[in-house]
Amino acid sequence: MLTVSVVLVCLAASLLLMQFLGMQRKRRQLPPGPAPLPLFGNLLQMKFQIHHDILNQMASTYGNIFTLWLTSVPVVVLQGYQAVKEGMTAHAEEVAGRPLSRAFKFLTNGNGVMFSNGHLWKQQRRFGLLTMRKLGVGKQSQECQIQEEARHLVQYLRNTKGKPVDPTVPVTHAVSNVISALILGHRFSIEDKRFLRLVEAVDDISAFTNSISFYVHDRLPWIATCFLTRCKKALASIRTMRALLEEEIESHKEKTDGNQDFIGYYLDQMAKSKEDAGATYDKANLTQNVFDLFLAGTETTATTLRWALLYMVAYPDVQEKVHKELDAVLGSSRLICYTDRKNLPYTNAVIHEIQRYSNIVLIALPRYTVKDTELLGFPIPKDTIVLVNIDSILSDPEKWETPDQFNPGHFLDKDGNFVHREAFLPFSIGHRACMGELLARLELFIIFCTLMQAFTFTLPDGVKEVNTKFVFSTTMKPPPHQLCAIPR
Ligand code: HEM
Repeated sequence: MLTVSVVLVCLAASLLLMQFLGMQRKRRQLPPGPAPLPLFGNLLQMKFQIHHDILNQMASTYGNIFTLWLTSVPVVVLQGYQAVKEGMTAHAEEVAGRPLSRAFKFLTNGNGVMFSNGHLWKQQRRFGLLTMRKLGVGKQSQECQIQEEARHLVQYLRNTKGKPVDPTVPVTHAVSNVISALILGHRFSIEDKRFLRLVEAVDDISAFTNSISFYVHDRLPWIATCFLTRCKKALASIRTMRALLEEEIESHKEKTDGNQDFIGYYLDQMAKSKEDAGATYDKANLTQNVFDLFLAGTETTATTLRWALLYMVAYPDVQEKVHKELDAVLGSSRLICYTDRKNLPYTNAVIHEIQRYSNIVLIALPRYTVKDTELLGFPIPKDTIVLVNIDSILSDPEKWETPDQFNPGHFLDKDGNFVHREAFLPFSIGHRACMGELLARLELFIIFCTLMQAFTFTLPDGVKEVNTKFVFSTTMKPPPHQLCAIPR
């Protein structure tokens, strides 16, 4: 018995030693970084989170490109505007992959657009962008739909009669209805149980992707799915979300009114390309695309809008200036269009600063090198994970005058005209940059302005301080709070 234990211990020690030597060999070929431990890599130093503060600390020691290890997997991090721009544009094609780790495979099976690769990803992305254009994103017809959701939101807040309200559900409702109308062809009522289940599922899946459970699942999937609550919850939510979306797809097959929404266009494309051997349009990809667009398009925009309202409460002088500009240019009732931003430089600057300062996606989705490449002079082998630290761009001291302050002046010249800033990259950069950027910009502008036209946002009576410290999650969320929407 003793001999068996000794053999097992020796075997484990030899495996660890071999892993360690392998990591050391690879380390010599990659950009510098902190020394990894066998088994854990740098996870202990990172407290099992890819936290921007820790990345920023590492960058101050190792420079604007460095390597850290998540268990035995090396990850190259790009830090600051210059490094990210160079890495993501000079070698855009080579860094356009997504790592299909076990955990991401569990989420997507490699289908859809967010975690697919190669020909499949290119075809699905091109189709998605084209279809969003056909569905009117960026045109007046689709703006009307955003205006309608903004009106519902105003009505909801009016009904609160200035009493304290947590804006999370109504704001998420407005945003997810914009994406639902585009993809599914209808909106949900705020009481609809399916809507509440979808929102809950999006929350559970997002919480899982940013937790220790996610890494454990990547290495030890059986243990994670059997014992870790967050993982079990995410699994149940993935099933719920898929089932709901599949129901929607089925109900489309009975429709005869053609291309009204993303599912309609996709079913049409599936029928057209049946004989095409290179086509990747099938039911699994349709379901995953709908899943991806819903997941990526709901929480991001809703979280940004929640920050917008909280900042208006925290910076009443900014809120007052926005009110003044809106009153002068649009009056109190005119419907707001995206083209109005040209006459609303201050409000436009405020919305940009809300995105910069709230910085909701601190680290972009992971990238993967699909070929051997070179980043900032370092050779990077094929199949290496690359992370873009978006936080380090949006708070790069070389690019922003007051990176740690909420300052709409970052986007204004001395005459008060709006100025675009090259380091404003909340949607990332390169071939895998956000697919919903235009839609998100339209939603943020129209919904924010409509709300500001209708209300002054204040703290509830008796609450003295505004807490703007974010809650660390997949998107950085405002802390739980209530505010009052006082009709103007
Ligand atoms: C304020 C709102 C939003 C922000 C800040 C945001 C940000 C991002 C970021 C940082 C990425 C990762 C890019 C990379 O890998 O370099 C991304 C990817 C993506 N976003 Fe967004 N996003 C927003 C809204 C939306 C909306 C409304 C949609 C849906 C229409 C959407 C769909 C996607 C998709 C499909 C991807 C994956 C693209 C690919 O892998 O090719 N996003 N987004």
